[in-house]
Amino acid sequence: MILKNFIVFEGIDGAGTSTQIKILQKRKDAERFFFTTEPTDSETGKFLRKMLKGDVELDPRTSAFLFAADRNEHLYGKGGTNCGVIEQAQKGKIVVSDRYLFSSLTYQSVTCGDELPRRLNESFPLPEILFFFDINPEISLKRVLGRGETEIYEKLDFQKATAERYRAVIDEYEKMNTGMKIVHLDASQPVEKVADLINQHILPIL
Ligand code: TMP
Repeated sequence: MILKNFIVFEGIDGAGTSTQIKILQKRKDAERFFFTTEPTDSETGKFLRKMLKGDVELDPRTSAFLFAADRNEHLYGKGGTNCGVIEQAQKGKIVVSDRYLFSSLTYQSVTCGDELPRRLNESFPLPEILFFFDINPEISLKRVLGRGETEIYEKLDFQKATAERYRAVIDEYEKMNTGMKIVHLDASQPVEKVADLINQHILPIL
């Protein structure tokens, strides 16, 4: 099922999704939007952030369950300020999420195989538009390392494996004809160029 008014940004770490959300937040018509992230700021999301920082060690399958649980809260719950996506989208807000289930189908498939993440995510709605920020992991990791503090997945081998999985997962969805619009962005381009391309694709649904 496609959730209308729902837009998702996906890509490996350092691909620039958060930067593009910040640009959208400065739009004159920003009140038409509802900006969210995964992990969310719910208690489940906060716990996942601890895991990402390396403060809590979890079995990879436990992480897969928790990312899916946080996603359920993101869509249906009120556990965090950026939750309740379905209600917001149905009210007519354009919901833009920094990451969604495609992150689980890539990152968690690298850590615990693809069967569990697929099963846990099969019933969630798909966004109206998926922007895939495609970038060479060597370039994106440089951006991440330049920020200082790093998370457990931010290592070159892992990012290379994730980048490969992203391309395979996106390819699979393209072949499925789900009705979700998939936009490939060359995320190594200047930030303003990427912002222009995003704007062109968002305009028709505003
Ligand atoms: P970010 O806030 O910088 O995007 O970092 C979130 C990290 O969490 C990033 O490394 C991707 C990872 N992640 C997963 O592994 N699975 C998921 O389902 C989600 C939403 C994020």
